[in-house]
Amino acid sequence: MEGSLINPSSGLTDVKTSLEADSSVLQIWGGHSLQGHVEISGAKNSALVIMAGALLCSGDCHIRNVPKLADVKKMGQVLSALGVRLEQNGDTLDIDAREITTSKAPYELVTQLRASFFAIGPILARLGVAQMPLPGGCAIGARPVDLHVRGLQAMGAEVQIEHGICNAYVPGSGGRLQGAKIYLDSPSVGATETLMMAATLADGETILENAAREPEVVDLANFCIAMGAKIEGAGTSTITIQGVLKLHSVDYSIIPDRIEAGTFLIAGAITRSEFILSPVIPDHLTPVIAKLREMGVRIVEDGHNCLRILKTEKLLPADIETLPHPGFPTDMQAPFMSLLAMADGDSLINESVFENRLRHASELNRLGADIRVKRNTAFVRGVQMLSGAPVLGTDLRASAALVVAGLAAEGKTTVQGLQFLDRGYDRMDLKLQQLGAKILRVTQVEADAEYGLSLLPSEASIS
Ligand code: EPZ
Repeated sequence: MEGSLINPSSGLTDVKTSLEADSSVLQIWGGHSLQGHVEISGAKNSALVIMAGALLCSGDCHIRNVPKLADVKKMGQVLSALGVRLEQNGDTLDIDAREITTSKAPYELVTQLRASFFAIGPILARLGVAQMPLPGGCAIGARPVDLHVRGLQAMGAEVQIEHGICNAYVPGSGGRLQGAKIYLDSPSVGATETLMMAATLADGETILENAAREPEVVDLANFCIAMGAKIEGAGTSTITIQGVLKLHSVDYSIIPDRIEAGTFLIAGAITRSEFILSPVIPDHLTPVIAKLREMGVRIVEDGHNCLRILKTEKLLPADIETLPHPGFPTDMQAPFMSLLAMADGDSLINESVFENRLRHASELNRLGADIRVKRNTAFVRGVQMLSGAPVLGTDLRASAALVVAGLAAEGKTTVQGLQFLDRGYDRMDLKLQQLGAKILRVTQVEADAEYGLSLLPSEASIS
C-alpha cells in the first residue's frame, strides 16, 4: 500500500497547514453568516489515546479517521522514538508495535504532549518497565498524574519519580502487572485510560471504580476489545477488565470529535447561521445541545449522524458548571463563554474541573465583552456587540473561543496563538472559510504591518 513511511526523527509526515502555526495569525472580519456543510474530523482525544493503545498490540493496527492535528503528529513522534513503525495514508494510520525497542520515552516530546504520558500503561504492560517523563503543568492547570501512578502501583508496579522522570517497573519473574481493584479519587479521563490499557494485559481481573465515562474512554475500550481485550462497563463508573496474554491486529475507525462539533455549533449560533454538521454522534453532545437549546438555539437531527443548526433569533443567558461526563464538558467552556458574552442577560460559568481555565475572559473583554472572573467563576454580562481587536489565545480551547468571538465581532479581529489552535482543531480556519466566514491565516509580520504594532508577546506556556 502506497504510504509515507514515518521518518523517526519527525514522526508523522508534516501536517501541512497553510503556514507554520507558530508564525501565523488568523485575521477575521466579523458579521458574516455561515452556510453549507462542515465535515467533522475524528476526535483528538480518542486519536491520541488510541495511538498509545496501539502499543499494546503485537500485530498491525489500522486506524481510520485520524484528524490532521499537531498533537497527532507529536504523538507519532513519541511512538517512533519508542521504535514503533508508523505509516500514514491520508486520514489512516498504520502502526506496527510488534517491536518496542526502548522503554524510555523522549523527554522533550512527552513534556509537550500530556496525552503521551498515558502510554506508560501500555509500555509497562508490554515490557514490564517504563521511563516516562512527567508531563508537567500547562496553561490550564498543574495536571498531576498521581491517580495514574497510584493505580499502576496497585497493579504491582514499583514507581519512583526522580529528575522529572516516572521510573516504573514490575518486580518478579516475567514482569507482568497484576489485576487489582482500584478506586479513582476523581473520574480522571487519563487515569482511567492509562489503567484500562495496562489492565488489558495484566494477570487477572482489574476493576476500575469511579472511572471516567467520556465517549473517548468508550472509544478506547472498543478499540482494545477489537484487538481481543476483555473489557466490560466502559461508559459507566465501573469498568471491569480480564487480562489476556496478547492482543491481535485491528482495523478501527475513530469517533467524530464532539468538541469540534460543539465549537462549530457555537460558531453557527453566534453568527445567527444555518448549516449542517456531519458526522456527529448526537448522544456525545447531549449536555452541549441541551445548554444551547436553553439559550434559544435551535438544533435538529437531519439524517444519520447529522445535525442542522437553524438561524438563531435571540440568545438567552444560561449558567454553566463544568463536570466530568455526562456533565457539561470543560473543553466546551471557553467557546461557550464567547457565546454567553453576547446573550441577552447575565450568565454564570463555574469551571470546576481545571484550576486555571478562565484566562480567555480577559481577551474576550478586549473585544468588548463584560466578564468578571473571581477564582473559578466568571460573571458574564451579555453585550449587544463585540468589536474586533488583536487577541491572544493562551490554550487550545481559549484560542477557539477567540476565533468564534471574532466571527461575530464588528470589524477585524486578529487571533494569535495558533500553535494551540492547530493542536486540537483540524484546519478550523479552512472549514470556516468553506462555510463563508471571512477568515485568513497570515504571517505575524503581515499582521503587524497592518496594525503597525506588535501583538502581545506570547506569554502562554504550552498546554
Ligand atoms: C483529558 O485530559 C483531555 N485530554 C482534556 O482535553 C480534557 O479537558 C480532560 O480530559 C477532562 O475532560 C485528553 O484526553 C488528551 P483528567 P486529562 O485527568 O486526562 C485532575 C483538550 O482541550 N487529575 O480528567 O489530563 C486534573 O488535574 C484537553 O482537548 C488529578 O488530580 O484530564 C484535573 O483537575 C484539555 N490527578 C482533573 O483531574 C491525576 O492523576 C481532570 O483531569 C489526573 C487528573
